[in-house]
Amino acid sequence: MSSAFVIRVALPADAESVTELLAASCPVLMAGAYDEAALKVALPAMTRAKSELLSSGTFYVAEADDGELAGCGGWTRERPGTGETNPRLAHIRHFATQPKWIGRGVGQALCNRCEEDARAAGISRFECHASLNAQGFYQALGFDTLRRFELAMGNGSSLPSILMQREL
Ligand SMILES: CC(C)(COP(=O)(O)OP(=O)(O)OC[C@H]1O[C@@H](n2cnc3c(N)ncnc32)[C@H](O)[C@@H]1OP(=O)(O)O)[C@@H](O)C(=O)NCCC(=O)NCCS
Repeated sequence: MSSAFVIRVALPADAESVTELLAASCPVLMAGAYDEAALKVALPAMTRAKSELLSSGTFYVAEADDGELAGCGGWTRERPGTGETNPRLAHIRHFATQPKWIGRGVGQALCNRCEEDARAAGISRFECHASLNAQGFYQALGFDTLRRFELAMGNGSSLPSILMQREL
């Protein structure tokens, strides 16, 4: 199996591979934190690559040396759901690691790249709507937990989530 990867900016042409990655990662890695009914309503939206992210220039993929995607994730100035913006604040978006790449630094490397580019763009704080299973990951990366909340999924349902923040 491939052991090296590079982080690069995602492109609209990555849509299919990012969707495949999300579909391989989220159902498996979120299963310990949510029941089947919650995942059934949340996963369709969570496992589809978002075209606005793929064309944002601030969404990245970790590409393994065999060409397979090991992970994805990025940041936007717009808050997901509302689109509102605050100067110097950015939102962590759509992080996922391919199950066979878990625990090998892919998420960390993606977050480092987010931090580097966001700082250069004048951002001083990250906010994250973390799924329950990802709280430990973001905590390891220096994020603080603010509160638990219900994340609206846009189809009338909601998913228990955690609001987290980190100063850059
Ligand atoms: C969350 C996720 C992206 C982590 O990816 P990863 O590539 O395995 O993370 P890394 O290997 O870079 O880990 C970085 C650090 O986080 C820690 N970490 C990772 N996952 C963790 C978890 N579930 N619980 C506690 N700590 C965790 C690692 O131990 C490591 O810490 P260390 O540097 O002190 O050793 C991955 O589990 C995933 O894709 N989950 C499903 C999708 C998801 O929930 N995405 C987030 C939506 S908000």
